[in-house]
Amino acid sequence: MDQQIESLRTEATAAINAAKSPQEIEALRVQYLGKKGSVSELRRSIGAFPKEDRPAVGKLITDLLTEVTELIDTRTATIQASAQSAAFEAERIDVTLPGRRVQMGKAHPITQTADRIREIFRGLGFEEVVGPEVETEWHNFDALNTPAHHPARDSHDTFYFTDTTLLRTHTSPVQVRTMLEREPPLRVIVPGRAYRRDADVTHSPMFHQCEGLLVDENVRFSDLKGILAAFAREMFGADTKVRFRPHYFPFTEPSAEVDISCVFCEGEGCRVCKQSGWLEVLGAGAVDPQVFKEVGYDPERYTGFAFGMGIDRIAMLNYRINDIRLLFENDMRFLTQF
Ligand code: DAH
Repeated sequence: MDQQIESLRTEATAAINAAKSPQEIEALRVQYLGKKGSVSELRRSIGAFPKEDRPAVGKLITDLLTEVTELIDTRTATIQASAQSAAFEAERIDVTLPGRRVQMGKAHPITQTADRIREIFRGLGFEEVVGPEVETEWHNFDALNTPAHHPARDSHDTFYFTDTTLLRTHTSPVQVRTMLEREPPLRVIVPGRAYRRDADVTHSPMFHQCEGLLVDENVRFSDLKGILAAFAREMFGADTKVRFRPHYFPFTEPSAEVDISCVFCEGEGCRVCKQSGWLEVLGAGAVDPQVFKEVGYDPERYTGFAFGMGIDRIAMLNYRINDIRLLFENDMRFLTQF
């Protein structure tokens, strides 16, 4: 009997310690401790022993039972612990891995250019003002000394809503609105959208301008030249040369077109400047006394100057873009280059 118990103990110990899953453990529990299990069977065979031996045999079997039960409990705990740490291992998150990058947005090249223009004129003491894009004919033309049938109206291919309302063809009507609202001295810029029926590689039906207006006593044409030269050097580089050519605008007298030395060839002559060495960047002039009369300013007391530039054109020059339409298609492959 001793031997039988001993070999059952050895067998059970080896089997239990080799078990790898809760299912295997359960099978072994049934095999040894179940109703028809080996240990239970041993116990039932106790009656076959002589009466005086039964207590000793009984103790041996009970010890075996306790031992096997403990072995099973211990092994179950071990299996559970390793299952848990395997699960932890599988779900482990490496917090030191680099994260996914968020793609950063950028300002549109026109916005960047407009911001630069704002910054330069802010440094020269100008304040920003705005006005409506849907304008009256009076603000857009008449008050700017451009009455009906004035030939200058033809060059502005205008989008009309009614006979008297339109999409502003330039930012100049905001000069009129500002002067109607305020008294001199004035130093304002007006960045904004303007509209004309025009479309090719250098013209878009919607485009951006920046208007400027300065009104005070004793303002001279040389003040205009100084301000615009300072602007051009800030915007296009310290070596930029500026030239004023006589021109005509209804709302300024005298008027000028302002050129800068070509940013591509530095004045040598190239395809962009059509071999002239100069690029036209803005229109300007001394405010026409007729405009002052329209807004109720005394032309004997006040003088001033105004200017207007195309923001898109300046962006095209600065970023070397040859087709204005690229600026408005919003193709990410194009926009991410700036
Ligand atoms: N408004 C003009 C245009 O769109 C640009 C301009 C020229 C504005 C001369 C001005 C100026 O204020 O003085 O062509």
